[in-house]
Amino acid sequence: MCGIVGYIGNKDSLSILMDGLKRLEYRGYDSSGVSLICRETSKIKTIKKAGKIKDLEELFKTNKPCKSNVGIAHTRWATHGEPNDINAHPHNDCFNKISLVHNGIIENYRTLKNYLIQKGHTFVSDTDTEVLAHLIEHFYKGDPMVAVKKALNRVDGTYGIVVLFSEHPDIVIAARKGSPLVIGKSDNQMIIASDASAIIAHTNQVLYMQDGDVAYITKNDIELSTVESNDALDAEFVEIEMTLSQIEKGGYEHFMLKEIFEQPDSLRDTMTGRLDKENGTARLNGIKDYFKNLTDADRIIITACGTSWHASLIGKYLIESYTNIPVEVDYASEFRYRNPIITERTVLIVVSQSGETADTLAALREGKSKGATVLGICNVVGSTIARETDAGIYTHAGPEIGVASTKAFTAQVMAFILLSIALGRKKLLSFDQGLSLIKEIEQLPSKISEILHDKNKIDSICRKSYKKKNFLYLGRGFNFPVALEGALKLKEISYIHAEGYPAAEMKHGPIALIDENMPALVIALKDSIYEKIISNIKEIKARKGYVIAIANKGDKILKDIVDDVIYIPETKEEFSPILSVIPLQLIAYKIAVMRGLDVDMPRNLAKSVTVE
Ligand code: AGP
Ligand code: GLU
Repeated sequence: MCGIVGYIGNKDSLSILMDGLKRLEYRGYDSSGVSLICRETSKIKTIKKAGKIKDLEELFKTNKPCKSNVGIAHTRWATHGEPNDINAHPHNDCFNKISLVHNGIIENYRTLKNYLIQKGHTFVSDTDTEVLAHLIEHFYKGDPMVAVKKALNRVDGTYGIVVLFSEHPDIVIAARKGSPLVIGKSDNQMIIASDASAIIAHTNQVLYMQDGDVAYITKNDIELSTVESNDALDAEFVEIEMTLSQIEKGGYEHFMLKEIFEQPDSLRDTMTGRLDKENGTARLNGIKDYFKNLTDADRIIITACGTSWHASLIGKYLIESYTNIPVEVDYASEFRYRNPIITERTVLIVVSQSGETADTLAALREGKSKGATVLGICNVVGSTIARETDAGIYTHAGPEIGVASTKAFTAQVMAFILLSIALGRKKLLSFDQGLSLIKEIEQLPSKISEILHDKNKIDSICRKSYKKKNFLYLGRGFNFPVALEGALKLKEISYIHAEGYPAAEMKHGPIALIDENMPALVIALKDSIYEKIISNIKEIKARKGYVIAIANKGDKILKDIVDDVIYIPETKEEFSPILSVIPLQLIAYKIAVMRGLDVDMPRNLAKSVTVE
């Protein structure tokens, strides 16, 4: 969690750092800060503040930053120590000669802190991070690289760090283990950041640091080695394709709304080049060398967190519909703390938008160590998960900035649709069946557009319910995971308590909650279980519940049974989540806006959870 930026070059470092920090603010936003090596004095000036980045900028009016060409900046998502001014990063040594920003958790910080206090160091914050600044100070005898490596060799846990030394104003040092860091280079300058969005305005030449890497960075050069060894590694830069317009709001009020509306296009990008009509199948070149492992698998385990876990559940239903391979779905955070049964014929699929989620990464490593083939479904190209999996499917949804995931979800479901068809064609699907599925997939983007442009009904429903304290989301079959996802969206950005439930489970408990103050949003499409869900709705209505239904266009029955209906186009039952989730995303968005909340930066959350 958190966003890091570092700069060294000829330009004014503050403006580049602040611009980068704003682009990373979605990663964490409880406090922020900068450290600059002042050009005139070579001293380090640190300014930090609890709150959003705009609060830090406000502080600059009274606590003026110095002129500088070298600096670091941080936007925090606290793990250790409350989000106040002191705990904000950067953290410095006893004499303000060393300053660093950190993403991750130092697990043995207590032991190290006690040791350093005994050695006479004075700590000011409650963070785990501060220990790193003092540990580097402890080992610093004039050579920054030696001190950083010695310190990192004593540390357990995860880190992405960028360090400044006032006695060495011509260098910065960056190191990573478990938390992402990218270095961008252009003429006479280097920018280090947690992700490429903070770099793209300056260059598209980037180096993705690997776990264990330490970089000694000047404005023109990088020396790359590892924590354990001083042997030089090749500093390999690659070109990234991200554009600035992809990471800007483009006229929308919020990133989330922009990303909801991007879905027709992002889904087209997910399917581009992958629909093979000639063979009535999907073509997934990224996993072609491992395709046989999938078709021969005794079991597929899918693991992920949050929204990606919901997409994974739909993935299970899809794969099991078209193949005879059993599929399990596990929370990544649970997977590694039990004893998952893995054979060499097990395929583990890890699903992650960011490709950096710590729990998912840990599950990936656990699966690998137990001998599974590990495949990824990732959005961020070059992310850690994408790199550590044996092979994978990129979702190509483009950068997702809104903390509440939207277009990444539909892209993940699309990736599973393509995968399940490709697998299904080797198992239960005929050519004709495959072709008809492929043809239907092509229609999905325009069907989403139809829903997006017919949103007046959603406004009026939201006006009726935005002050409610609780919501129930119900669905069955393929739309049960959508109910979970709808509830998560509402919780995340509107802070309304919402529960997702399989509709038929209602009568086993939650029905006790039903009264006129608890809206129940029911996905009731014309599918194989339509009649059953109608009965579930009637059970709620009999108890005076307020029911909003998501129904198919042309449904004549529901409007007489429920209080409000949102209509969506028909598609194949297996693909319906891609359409039914759209109104739920819009509802969560509208309600959060009506409640006056910060949609893109909901409280307590951050976009990528890179700590366990
Ligand atoms: C989604 O709205 C959430 N912010 C969150 O649940 C997210 O899906 C989860 O943290 C997993 O992230 P990932 O896909 O980047 O691994
Ligand atoms: N553990 C550090 C802290 O609490 C860094 C957290 C982060 O990654 O933002 O300050």
